[in-house]
This record gives sequence, C-alpha cells and structure tokens, in this order.
Amino acid sequence: MSQTNPNEASPNPARPMVRAEGVRKNFGTLEVLKGISLEVQRGQVLCIIGPSGSGKSTFLRCINHLEKINAGRLYVDGELVGYREKNDKLYELHPREAARQRRDIGMVFQHFNLFPHRTVLENVIEAPIQVKKVAKRDAEATAQDLLARVGLSDKAGVYPAQLSGGQQQRVAIARALAMDPKLMLFDEPTSALDPELVGEVLGAMKRLASDGMTMVVVTHEMGFAREVADQLVFMDGGVVVEAGPPREVLENPQHERTKTFLSRLL
Ligand SMILES: Nc1ncnc2c1ncn2[C@@H]1O[C@H](COP(=O)(O)OP(=O)(O)O)[C@@H](O)[C@H]1O
Ligand SMILES: [Mg+2]
Repeated sequence: MSQTNPNEASPNPARPMVRAEGVRKNFGTLEVLKGISLEVQRGQVLCIIGPSGSGKSTFLRCINHLEKINAGRLYVDGELVGYREKNDKLYELHPREAARQRRDIGMVFQHFNLFPHRTVLENVIEAPIQVKKVAKRDAEATAQDLLARVGLSDKAGVYPAQLSGGQQQRVAIARALAMDPKLMLFDEPTSALDPELVGEVLGAMKRLASDGMTMVVVTHEMGFAREVADQLVFMDGGVVVEAGPPREVLENPQHERTKTFLSRLL
C-alpha cells in the first residue's frame, strides 16, 4: 500500500533519532516539563539523571506518546510524534497511527510487567504475532536469537516466577527487541533489582548499545552512564539543567544544582 504521508520524512541517516524542541507538559496546573530541548543521534545512547519528580519518566512517556504534550515538538526519526502538523497547527493522530509509531519504540520499565501465566518464549513472541502478524515459527526463531543475546537461551520454557528479577528484566528487554524497534527507552531498568542482579541487566544493555541501538536511559547507575552514554542530561524541576559528554558533566559540573545532586549520590 503506497500512501503519501506528509509527516513521514524520507529515510535520512543524518537526521537525529530523537529531537525534542521546547517540550512542555502539564498535569492540570502542575507544570512538569518546562521546555525540554535535546537531540539523540542515531546509534547513540543518552542517559538522563535527576532527582525524583524532575519529569524524567514523563519525558520518556512523551517520546512514545503515552502522554500528550502541551507545547513544543517531538520528533522520532524525523516524524512528529502523535500529531500531524498543518499550517503551524497540530492535530492529534488517529489512535491507530499513534499505535503504529509506538510499535517502533521499545520501552523497558522498572517493573518488568511480564505475563505471569506465559512462558518466557510466549512472552517474547506475543507482540510480534498479535501486532505485527509475524508467523509463529518465525517469531519463535527470532525470540530464541534474542534470548541468546540477553543470555537466557536456557530459559525459554520457564515461567517468569521461576526467574530472578535480573533474568525477568532481561526477558523484558528481549520482548521489547522482538518488535524490532528503532529506538529503545529505559526507565530506571535496574532500580527495582537487588544490587547483585544489576550488573547482568546493565551488561545486556551495554551489548545492545555496542550493537548500535539508539537508546534513552533514565538511570542512577553512574558507572553505566560514564561508560556507555554518548550524552548525559541532568534534569531538575522539568528543565535540562546541564547536558554534555558524561565525563564532563560528572567530573566538572557547571551548575550548582548538578553539583548538589551528584554529591548526594556519592
Ligand atoms: N499522571 C500524572 N498526573 C499528575 N501528576 C503526575 C502524573 N505523572 C507524573 N506526575 C507528576 O509529575 C512530576 C514528575 O513526575 P515523573 O515524570 O514521574 O518524575 P521522575 O521520573 O523524574 O521521578 C511529579 O511531580 C509527579 O507527581
Ligand atoms: Mg521516574
């Protein structure tokens, strides 16, 4: 089906994967995002740090249009997220169109939300079969590859409850990858884990990054941010206070708020 969609830009490797321009979001009178502007280039990793309540999760949810924005523009791969623009005005996309955009964006949350009554393999093949109409046999072959990538080849037939938190989170990563996303969003993926399980999840994420996945990661794991991120953003009170290469932000923060936040982490 060939349909001209004025929103759909032609493929252009130079275009950033994510571009936020003055993104604002209110919940009633509470202004949670007060004009966020940033870019994530293709194949790069952006880490976002900041105190609780600073708007990090809300910003991630805006990127895949789980939240509507009140002002500004958000583009993923050159395409306006959730809206169509005509004569400087935004019109919300049909839910079907919004869902199509969301399919290309994988999201991993603090809590893994696996289906408890389905095996690991069944969890991973569910969306490709239901949403993308992939043939079961193909979905299973892909799922096996993905489980191998996150180090869980031997767990395909077990149920989530039989896995540790770290293993469950790696299944959640494989499940997101099964939709073949062009962008992965992680919202504090290791915060709910026992300390000894954090490393295996960060390891899987690190491999994903080195395979070239574009990632936006909200995290408190400074070691991961320093090693893996191309760009580190410090958010506070709904604004980007400071952004730059992780080493610069972590070792030589320019703003008092960043210094205070980092000193509390140590
Ligand atoms: N659905 C919502 N309705 C009302 N307020 C919300 C909603 N979601 C988040 N908030 C508020 O927005 C602010 C930012 O939240 P959040 O994005 O979760 O911050 P962070 O992820 O940085 O901790 C908080 O004050 C939170 O209470
Ligand atoms: Mg959050």
